Amino acid sequence: MQAGVVITRRERAVGLPSPSSGLARVTQRAGWPGPLRLTSRAQPAYSSQAVKVSGKRVLITGGASGVGEASVRRFLAEGAAVVFVDLDQERGFALERELRDRDAPVRFIALDASAESEIASAVQAAAQTLGGIDVLHSNAGIAAGGDALATSIAEWERTFAVNVRAPWLWSRQVIPHMREGGWGAIVFTGSTSGMVGFPGAIPYTASKGGLLNLMRSLALELAADGITVNAVSPGHLDTPMTRRFMEDPNDADALGRNLAAHAATVPVGRLGRPEEVAALVVFLASDDARFCTGGNHVCDGGLTAA
Ligand SMILES: NC(=O)c1ccc[n+]([C@@H]2O[C@H](COP(=O)([O-])OP(=O)(O)OC[C@H]3O[C@@H](n4cnc5c(N)ncnc54)[C@H](O)[C@@H]3O)[C@@H](O)[C@H]2O)c1
Repeated sequence: MQAGVVITRRERAVGLPSPSSGLARVTQRAGWPGPLRLTSRAQPAYSSQAVKVSGKRVLITGGASGVGEASVRRFLAEGAAVVFVDLDQERGFALERELRDRDAPVRFIALDASAESEIASAVQAAAQTLGGIDVLHSNAGIAAGGDALATSIAEWERTFAVNVRAPWLWSRQVIPHMREGGWGAIVFTGSTSGMVGFPGAIPYTASKGGLLNLMRSLALELAADGITVNAVSPGHLDTPMTRRFMEDPNDADALGRNLAAHAATVPVGRLGRPEEVAALVVFLASDDARFCTGGNHVCDGGLTAA
């Protein structure tokens, strides 16, 4: 049996094999050809499009801002067609205009994603516009309420309606379309607050925890249908939602100070960008991720690793 390769401290420090080291022995024995150089001739034998969502028909909730907006932009950049819905008409129509001015295949529907009576017709309209639905990114979410005593019943009900009930209702409506095509990917935007306790945000953490188990159960129900169901769970992001929390109308410096304090709690030392979450969403909706289902995919700069 061959002994394990020992990487010396020098190799680790300078990235070079010392003559007597394990790495040098291995590279000499194997006739190591030296550094690899990328040339324009060296087009890979695999597709250069790493993320395969080109041509997919995508429906996104809460697409006018933050993670949802980044998801709209990234899916379009990867060659998908997108319908997105949002409560915020102004931002939604502005984003649609900006993207359509650049000939992007995108449509906006102004809608409360938790409005039970309107979801079926919105999904119908999206399916007609897109010619079917392959991907649902159920992303709309709110963070209402506070600690256990301060939270009102109305805040609890509203948070659950948007964060848990709506993802279930949207999934119910898209499943028949996905079954028809024999291919589907549902991605929920969860949160690390649904994985660990987080004081002062009782309905939010409870709802995101519920969302993660909704995702797991749906994944099992749909596993035999060629439909994957996953969640991405961001940690602390720099989005309009976060900024709203951090602002104090009576203190002009509060936003900067609170953002910095928030970032300091993240092991990598900064807040995440919505684009970093969108990249994960797009991967989970791609042809490359067909074996990924029922998973909670964390994107949190190490926050929950501790
Ligand atoms: N910001 C963070 O640090 C963070 C961390 C973890 C998870 N998340 C989750 O990411 C998702 C997106 O959050 P964000 O930070 O991008 O927030 P955001 O406020 O920037 O964007 C959310 C979008 O959803 C829309 N929306 C809210 N309720 C809606 C409804 N009922 N119907 C339709 N649209 C609605 C808003 O109008 C907004 O455009 C949420 O599910 C949130 O819980 C955010």
